[in-house]
Amino acid sequence: MRVGTAAWERIDSIGECFEEISRTGPVASVTVLADRFGRIATDLRVSLTDRCNLRCTYCMPAEGLAWMPQPQQLTDDEVNRLVRIAVEQLGVTEVRFTGGEPLIRRGLVGIVAAAARLDPRPQLSVTTNGIGLDRVAGALKEAGLNRVNVSLDTLDPARFHTLTRRDRHADVLAGLRAAADAGLTPVKINTVLMRGVNDDEAAALLQFALDHGYQLRFIEQMPLDAQHQWTRAEMVTADEILAALKPFDLRPDNVSRGTAPAETWLIPHHVDAAGEPARVGVIASVTRPFCGDCDRTRLTADGQIRNCLFATDESDLRKLLRDGAPDNEIADAWQVAMRGKRAGHGIDDPTFLQPARPMSAIGG
Ligand code: 5AD
Ligand code: SF4
Repeated sequence: MRVGTAAWERIDSIGECFEEISRTGPVASVTVLADRFGRIATDLRVSLTDRCNLRCTYCMPAEGLAWMPQPQQLTDDEVNRLVRIAVEQLGVTEVRFTGGEPLIRRGLVGIVAAAARLDPRPQLSVTTNGIGLDRVAGALKEAGLNRVNVSLDTLDPARFHTLTRRDRHADVLAGLRAAADAGLTPVKINTVLMRGVNDDEAAALLQFALDHGYQLRFIEQMPLDAQHQWTRAEMVTADEILAALKPFDLRPDNVSRGTAPAETWLIPHHVDAAGEPARVGVIASVTRPFCGDCDRTRLTADGQIRNCLFATDESDLRKLLRDGAPDNEIADAWQVAMRGKRAGHGIDDPTFLQPARPMSAIGG
């Protein structure tokens, strides 16, 4: 069991959670987002909206959800301020914008541009369903976006329609092409396989990704659907995915994955768009949890900090913002929120409780 082990090993060397570490010498110092297990969060996921233009069956019911009322949503300025505090005061080095569907957020390009002006400049990425990406990829690149992850679960337009309840397959493919053309590379594809739905497409999806120079990552389906219908038996496991990829003769990748959730495999005889050996990733969140290496902190569209995808409680930064709290008070509250992070998600514990907030309102 990997949960927590790396973190336990590190706890001795890190010691107190609120220590100051020096980044650039004696002058500049930054307070980090550390938890009781020695993990330090440097990767911020910002959900910019809970709305989406698809209705993926593993995410939302057909009729959608009760969307967050507009006044509850952080304004662009509020998002920019929290991202700035995270980067300037709390040691965050990577910011990923998610949703719902982040391309729906009108201010997205401006929010990316503001983040790109920060010093130190964070790595910036977006996780999107790809719809509309063909129109905005160039502007996002110009604003300073580094990369995109596009969700794609099938190569078959009819199946896409069944799965997402919308007839938009061609838009996603156009979005992928536009992202590559704009240089938002490596373009990554996220795929969730479902038993009896698209689990026969693992090899075809990988071949598609190889043919186009995209990096494919399979994600085990997690109990984060709004309908609470997830069952472990229905989930396609990492082992099953790897078995389906046997024709590619995958080789273990000796590059350490560090805090990245994807375990990667090399694909002999293939190179990626940059001429590097091609790889495929599997994010085995359920069967091989990587909580012990987690470096994430999450901000919801209504200004709540979640220290884990599966957290059952949240910390309200929006109230502090709107009550006029200074930056250092907000940074302090963020630290406290992260300190309470649990060792692991506990999906296998008999006491596991699915969080009230579905994936679409947390962000991937
Ligand atoms: N389990 C795993 N992945 C999910 N995603 C959405 N819901 C789930 C779930 N329950 C994926 C989307 C997208 C990313 C944000 O997370 O397909 O690629
Ligand atoms: Fe939208 Fe992503 Fe949910 Fe699909 S999985 S409905 S694309 S938020």
